[in-house]
Amino acid sequence: MRKNIVAGNWKMNTTLQEGIKLAEDVNEALKTATPKCDIVICVPFTHLASVNNVIDKNILGLGAENCADHVKGAYTGEVSAAMVASTGATHVILGHSERRQYYGETAEILKEKVNLALANNLTPIFCIGEVLEQREDGSYFDVVKAQIEGSLFELSAEDFGKIVLAYEPVWAIGTGKTATDDQAEEMHAFIRGVIADKYGKEVADNTSILYGGSCKPSNAAALFAKPNVDGGLIGGAALEAESFMGIVTAF
Ligand code: PGA
Repeated sequence: MRKNIVAGNWKMNTTLQEGIKLAEDVNEALKTATPKCDIVICVPFTHLASVNNVIDKNILGLGAENCADHVKGAYTGEVSAAMVASTGATHVILGHSERRQYYGETAEILKEKVNLALANNLTPIFCIGEVLEQREDGSYFDVVKAQIEGSLFELSAEDFGKIVLAYEPVWAIGTGKTATDDQAEEMHAFIRGVIADKYGKEVADNTSILYGGSCKPSNAAALFAKPNVDGGLIGGAALEAESFMGIVTAF
């Protein structure tokens, strides 16, 4: 059956020293906790190798926040999936709305990134979600379905089974305005239906679908109690070990 997962997305926060400290703090807290979920921290590229050295990978997973859409070569400033994997990371966030919005990442580009992540044995945490206007005009189901179809539906069922999805309504990211647990459940159930139509019920039932967008210790338990919400992708609240652990223990 599908896993429950709480993943932190540090975004462009923390210096290397601050990041190592935060990773150590989370790792330390997990030693005495008995979480009912897998935990992953997704950190800036510059931090990956160092963080890998200070965490116990049996209790805390490590991921990047992005990777390149090319294998290797003359792409100054880019970081490939193979480079990410060589640090010890096992996960990579792909298709985050901030990447789509500020860096022009299209469905086509994301398809390449997903393929390269899988080819390097990284688990993609693939983000989808509508903007406020689409929530208000009622097109949000179509938008999310198109995002999934556009980047993931050429995968074999076996490869699709390696993907973790994160539904992140853009209007809820960093705004303090969380989707209600009913809104999250409604979309997660819809997403699972879209997957079932394409790959069958078993694949759909085994896919972890995380919720992201102003998830915090005070609302995590209600969100995670919903049958189709399998955890969270956590931004702001992942930047302190205490609040991150407050979400981890909400399961
Ligand atoms: P937030 O970010 O928790 O700060 O809203 C979530 C995300 O963007 O992954």
